Amino acid sequence: MSQPLLTLDFLDKAAAPEHAPSGEVRVSAATRTGRPRSLYIESYGCQMNFSDSEIVSSILYDEGFDLTEDLATADLVLLNTCSIREKAEQTVRMRLKQINSHKKRRPGMLVGVLGCMAERLKSKFLEEEKIVDLVVGPDAYRDLPQLISQVDGGQKGVNVLLSREETYADITPVRLNSNGVSAFISIMRGCDNMCSFCVVPFTRGRERSRDAHSILQEASNLVAAGYKEVTLLGQNVDSYKWTSADGTEHVNFAQLLESVALISPALRVRFSTSHPKDITDEVLHTMARHENICKYIHLPAQSGNSRVLALMNRTYDRPWYEDRVRKIREILGDDCAISTDMIAGFCSETEEEHEDTKSLMEFVRYDMAYQFFYSERPGTLAARKLADDIPLETKKRRLQELIDIQQLHSAERNKRGVGQVHKVLVENFSKRSKEHLSGRNSQNQVVIFPKQDFVKGDYVNVLVHSSSASTLLGEAVA
Ligand code: SAH
Ligand code: SF4
Ligand code: F3S
Repeated sequence: MSQPLLTLDFLDKAAAPEHAPSGEVRVSAATRTGRPRSLYIESYGCQMNFSDSEIVSSILYDEGFDLTEDLATADLVLLNTCSIREKAEQTVRMRLKQINSHKKRRPGMLVGVLGCMAERLKSKFLEEEKIVDLVVGPDAYRDLPQLISQVDGGQKGVNVLLSREETYADITPVRLNSNGVSAFISIMRGCDNMCSFCVVPFTRGRERSRDAHSILQEASNLVAAGYKEVTLLGQNVDSYKWTSADGTEHVNFAQLLESVALISPALRVRFSTSHPKDITDEVLHTMARHENICKYIHLPAQSGNSRVLALMNRTYDRPWYEDRVRKIREILGDDCAISTDMIAGFCSETEEEHEDTKSLMEFVRYDMAYQFFYSERPGTLAARKLADDIPLETKKRRLQELIDIQQLHSAERNKRGVGQVHKVLVENFSKRSKEHLSGRNSQNQVVIFPKQDFVKGDYVNVLVHSSSASTLLGEAVA
């Protein structure tokens, strides 16, 4: 390893950055009352957005806002939005219509749009959606208090400036999306990759990595508060790269991952998303060295055809992707789960090229896949340079073919888990019965079993006796 591994020593040292999150862990505050105003926040899109809503809640909690789960009585309603596909934007527009009916009843209610749609549409949003008072992009959340007072003064509030530095490293998120067992930690923001179909580089700006010390501090605080799992988040975690202000410390993703894993053997570490061009053997070896780094890699391929991948500007081709998968199997064994994202019907994709995506799926036999048909996004490279020329019915048919294949592979993968003992971290009751608990194994498969005396946060060895495409069923063994 070329660079010294970042350790936890800093926790005892005066060298700890002053802005690292305090020892506090903020849990969902829906029960806190008696503050002057209340905030209702709803999130759409990727985990990064859900994680950002926790930061926004923290900023506004410090401004005197209670957090509420009741939209009807909230003083401030924020939608943290996603622009990734047209449908995602339509969902938010529909939701704004519903919110409008509340606002008619309670005209004092403020409505704000945050996140990627705010960034994409900017002040155009205020013209298009009359009920919106605030439009705030993903790098401008610190400005929310100021913008809200502007709205209180009768104006609209807009800030969609993107930043090259903002990582919100010093803000302790309010754990809205947490069951007290598992939490998200954002380790980087933005994306520099410019995949031709993707709006994210435009809505989230340039890639930047968060101070490694503040990440370790946040993870340590979570462990101290009883959390058992953290997911390190970024659009492209494998390109994480942080250098301290004095230039003496350099931390890459493998080193960060190892440092988080070393905090406690009882803490599970997950991460998402890995870009196939960036995931290194060093990361895979780090995963192999630590039992508590989950054996699950989300490695979006997007297509199985090299010409389409080049048009998508993914910067790898099919042989490269296959080689990464072989390396994962070689270093981590067949035990490591792999999932993907696939886009059906990208510009000019032929039937043969679509068949290549199917054959890549057969080659990898993914544990899970998020699949979409191509949705042209204004301003992207593809929208500017390529014709969106695959008819909708064809896109949908191709997508369905991919979904059908994945169903078979997911079921096959789950079936392989039958007869084996899985170490399950209990997260909740099963959706169907309070007599059963639900948790996940290292490979991210959901496992359900009779509760006995186990509780949320326990690690339980479960012997699996049956499976479906989505879950494993079993019972606890010693
Ligand atoms: N950073 C991640 C992806 C984030 S977006 C990565 O590079 O893998 C999540 C997924 O949405 C993408 O992987 C892609 O499959 C899908 N997606 C993005 N833009 C899309 C578009 N214009 N149409 C359809 N699907 C899209
Ligand atoms: Fe979008 Fe590509 Fe960046 Fe992922 S890596 S967020 S798909 S531009
Ligand atoms: Fe959507 Fe923005 Fe995430 S476009 S997928 S919320 S980064």
